[in-house]
Amino acid sequence: MRIFHISDIHFGLVDERALDWVRECIALERPDAVAITGDLTMRARHREYAAANEWIGALDVPVTANIGNHDMPYFNLVERFVAPYRRYRAIHRMVESEIDLAGLAIVPLKTTARAQWRLDWSKGWITASALAETLARIDALPQGTRVLVSAHHPLVETGTRGTALTRGGSRALEELARRNVLAVLSGHVHDPFDLIEETVAGPMRMIGAGTLSRRIRSTPPSFNEITIKEGKVSVETRNLERVATPDMQIDDVPEDALPPREPDEPVSHVATIPAQDPPVH
Ligand SMILES: [Fe+2]
Ligand SMILES: [Fe+2]
Repeated sequence: MRIFHISDIHFGLVDERALDWVRECIALERPDAVAITGDLTMRARHREYAAANEWIGALDVPVTANIGNHDMPYFNLVERFVAPYRRYRAIHRMVESEIDLAGLAIVPLKTTARAQWRLDWSKGWITASALAETLARIDALPQGTRVLVSAHHPLVETGTRGTALTRGGSRALEELARRNVLAVLSGHVHDPFDLIEETVAGPMRMIGAGTLSRRIRSTPPSFNEITIKEGKVSVETRNLERVATPDMQIDDVPEDALPPREPDEPVSHVATIPAQDPPVH
């Protein structure tokens, strides 16, 4: 079974050459599924969503997608609070809410929030209700089904500095480790990785995909080819520069996952109301 794990396309600032190449790979090689782990757009502009709709709609394989922090209204704060997922809904309707393959399911976990009690809203937050929904979906699967969980933010930071990126991430990882979860797929940090994180409930594999945008950090645009054979997961990080997978995969998730800010972009908003998001994937 083969899954193409792609992330952080950021329509509005895509790397056209890389994106064309990925589309060709999908059309020619026809993976069993494509998992897109969020940040489809740059600033959730209507034209960026239109491009995302067109690109994803043309894929002729099952697709699942997560909403990323860049996919909620950025300039229109009223809409962000009142209807943060309205622009994403067309994507949500087009993709699968969960992909069930033979003995394997891809189940999404929401890590974004319209607002947070901290200055930087770009970081992850797994609310109790988001985690409960994902766990309920996993627990409802036929016994023995193996699971890949897809999320936008890495659940925990694995570097030695600083604190965890994602609020509620450690607890979520622990709960997933208690279940038949092969790995958690994520994006956001724009560099690929393939790490094992220890939790009190046992080890959990975390697989990150790089970006297909021009917002690169340490590695060229790439996507992950994930192969599952007899319950064993292997990852190849494919890229046009032909950099070998071990050289593409970073050893630590960076503490600060925020892409470099452009000079004319406003700074992070200050949260004034608590977030209570409806379940959306
Ligand atoms: Fe991103
Ligand atoms: Fe992100």
